Parts: sequence; C-alpha cells; structure tokens
Amino acid sequence: MTLKFSRRHLAKLAGLSALGLAMPAGAAEKKGKPAPERFAPAPFPKGFVWGTATSSYQIEGATAEDGRGPSIWDTFSHTAGKIADHSNGDRANEHYHRYQEDVALIRSLGVKAYRFSIAWPRVFPEGTGTPNPKGLDFYNRLIDELLANGIEPYATLYHWDLPQALQDRVGGWLSSDTSKAFGDYAGHVAARISDRVKNIFTINEAGRFLEFGYGLGIDAPGLKLPAGELNQARHNVVLGHGLAVQAIRAVARKGTRVGPAENIATCVPAFATAENIRATELATREMNAGLLGVMLEGKYTDGFLEYAGSNAPKFTAEELKIIGSKNDFVGLNIYAPQFYIAASDRKPGWSLLPFPASFPHMNSEWLRFGPEVIYWAPKIAAKIWNIDTIYISENGTSSEDRLRDDGRIYDLDRISFLRNYLVQLQRATSEGVPVMGYFLWSLMDNFEWIYGYEKRFGLYHVDFQTQARTPKLSAAFYRDVVARNAIGP
Ligand code: BG6
Repeated sequence: MTLKFSRRHLAKLAGLSALGLAMPAGAAEKKGKPAPERFAPAPFPKGFVWGTATSSYQIEGATAEDGRGPSIWDTFSHTAGKIADHSNGDRANEHYHRYQEDVALIRSLGVKAYRFSIAWPRVFPEGTGTPNPKGLDFYNRLIDELLANGIEPYATLYHWDLPQALQDRVGGWLSSDTSKAFGDYAGHVAARISDRVKNIFTINEAGRFLEFGYGLGIDAPGLKLPAGELNQARHNVVLGHGLAVQAIRAVARKGTRVGPAENIATCVPAFATAENIRATELATREMNAGLLGVMLEGKYTDGFLEYAGSNAPKFTAEELKIIGSKNDFVGLNIYAPQFYIAASDRKPGWSLLPFPASFPHMNSEWLRFGPEVIYWAPKIAAKIWNIDTIYISENGTSSEDRLRDDGRIYDLDRISFLRNYLVQLQRATSEGVPVMGYFLWSLMDNFEWIYGYEKRFGLYHVDFQTQARTPKLSAAFYRDVVARNAIGP
C-alpha cells in the first residue's frame, strides 16, 4: 500500500520539522540534552489579582424593592423599541436575592477579587437628599459575604444607573449639579464601606455612556446632544470623577485606593516599527484627551481644544485641578482594538487606518478580535501618563453559548479569545508594564444593555426562566489560569 501525501501535508511536515516538533520522542534526550519545556505556561507576576466583574443594573433585579428609586436605565429599557429583545433589568439575574449563591460561584473559580457596582438610586433614591439606609444594607451584606469567602471586594460607584430624579431635575450629566451630587454620594458610600472595601472605582466607561447615551441616543438617557453640549456633559462627568476622588480621600479609611475604570480609546500600531509606535503614543493621547487624558493630566490638550473650537467645554482652572486629582490606580476596560495607527509625514504625525470588512470579530459585531490590544493599550498608557498601577477592569467576550443536549456549554471561541488576550497581557507584565490585576467580564450572563439577554458574556450560563447557573467550559479554563497564575500558549 502506498501512502499519499498532499502538498498541504508535506508543507505541514516541513513546518513541524523546522520547529523541531517532528523529532521522534526521546530523540533530544538521546543527544544528551533534556527536552526543553516548549509549552511551559508563562507566569504572571506574584500577587497578580485575578477577578471577575459585574454591574448593578445588569444583574441585581429587585428594581422596586427596599426603597430603590428608578434609574435612567429603568426608564430607557421600558421604552418601546430600545432593547433588542424587548427585555429590561426588572428581574435580571435576581442577584439581589441570590447574592450568596453568586459569591459561591466566584469562589469556585478560585479568584480572589470581585468587581461589582453600587446602584446610586438604591442609596439616594432621589439622587441627593435623604439616603435610603436599606440600599447600602444590601451592599454591606454582599461585602461581608465576599470577605467571609476570602474574596476582595472592588466597588464601582457608577456603572450607568443614574437616578432618574437627577435626569429629570437637572438634565443628568448636562449639569454640574450632577457632578456635585456624585461627589456627595461617593463620600457617603466611602465613609460606610471603606472599613472593608480598599479599592473603589469611580465611574465606569465614561466614553461609552456619554457617546451612546448623550451623543448617539442609543443608550440611556437616549439623548442626541449637539457637539458643544456633549463636550459639556463630558466635562461634567470628569468633574464628577475628580469630586468623588476628593470626597473619598476626605472621609475614607487610610489605605483606601481610588481610580477610574475607563474604556480607553485603544490605539494599536499597524505593525511595530519605532515610527508607528511613536505615532500610536501620540494618537492615544489625542484620542483620549476629553476623558481619560484630562483625568490624568489635569488639562485638555491643545489638539482637543483646537478640534472642539467653539464647541469646547466651559471650565475653570479650579475645575481642572479637581479633575486632575491624583488617582491610586487606573482601571482600563479593554475589549477590541479601536484604531490601528501608522506614522504619517503630515500633521498630526499619525493616521487612522481603515478597517477591512473582513477583519475578524467575535459573537458581538463590535468586538473585533485583536489580542495585541491588551499588550499595547496598557503599555502605551503607562508610558504617556506615567501610570504606576493599572488594572484591566474588564475584558471578555460574548459567545453563542448554546446549552447542548448533555447540559454543557462548549464556548471554545471564548476560551480561544481569553487565551490569546492573556498571552498578550502576560507579554506586557513580563516587560514590566504595571498591570496588577485582571477582571474578566463577566461572572455570569446578564442584561447586556441594548442587546437585552441576547448576548452572553458570562463564565456561567444563566437560564433566565429558572435562574439556573451552569459553568461553561471557559469557567474551567479560567480556574486553571488562576490556579497556575500563568497562561499556556
Ligand atoms: C462594557 C461595559 O462596555 O462592555 C459592560 O462596561 C458591558 O457593562 C460590556 O456589559 C459588554 O458590552 P455590550 O454593549 O455588548 O453589552
């Protein structure tokens, strides 16, 4: 019998032998050398913080219980035509009542940190004024449960559920009254939780909720503001961040650390020449000048002000000082490469390259697959803003996540995504980029904003009829990474 090899087989064999992989087992030892550990997992730094993340409106449900006031997301999701599957967060994951079960899920992943958010309208149903003690009672129960299970709580103060009363009364973030109210709320919460919560994120993804909620009108509160007003809203948000940092510092226990969790506009060199890398640094600074940049520099760049022209926000020097209050860390939510950059001879020295329609993406169309983004974005941010402590405050992907007949979910695309992104993150930490931790989005499937329950990002599958939680294959994958503190190739 003759064996037939196609050209493809031959090329494959040639490739394997070039890598030294086609060598018969034991051949290396015969030559007197021990076989190298080619596939040894690459380690993360000692003490690296592994966690998962969620947010209040996306999982809690119980929207009308224990005195919670309505938020702009209750109003928006109850408005016809806004949510793909016509759902809302009224029930969501019923986490408000099932939090103990959910803490057990976190624990069984082996992670030692959990990022959750506090719903402002639970604490101040009207946004300001009289607090509702039952609101914080819930978070106190959650925090205590986490600590009892050896899990460090990382609290976020604002993950988009603005009290509706503030939207109605002052126009939400269009008014600096909301910035002040946010500062007061932050101080109120920090004074009561900082005996147990050492890390507080102020605002989650200002870039997303402003662009989508106040610019495009596709997130709550559904406004389509003209450029000038949108810039003013941006300014009020970063002012709210600065006021919150100051309020927390004034009242919190010593050792409480605070910072933003921002979806940095991610810029990646088209390919890594010295010129393209330099161009990407310049682009990163300018593309983030209106939010993360001003929070970290305490000033708007000349390029930002020039581009905004008469639409630039109105601000005072005193406000810039508040906005630039020093953070203890910077949280970066990193999913997709947003811009590939090449050096250019023309001003401003860089250009944004157009995406081919064939660029790969995950189950969510917006989530382009470009693992190198989680190497470049923190590396460049650390360099241009001189940051010494970064957390990846979110990263993850949606997947089809179909429950098979055997009751399991084989989310191989999520595993592939995570493996590739974590290899790049390890590459960054091994070069000394100061990333101290990673929070995987998300612990479990949840209310994914305008997609309702159609998109699933969880390590645990949730049946929203029965509320059954089932670990996906990726939960086992992540548990293994966490246990080794290392990522295999
Ligand atoms: C981030 C948010 O933008 O991405 C999360 O902080 C969100 O709250 C996640 O769930 C996925 O986004 P989306 O739009 O696909 O639901």
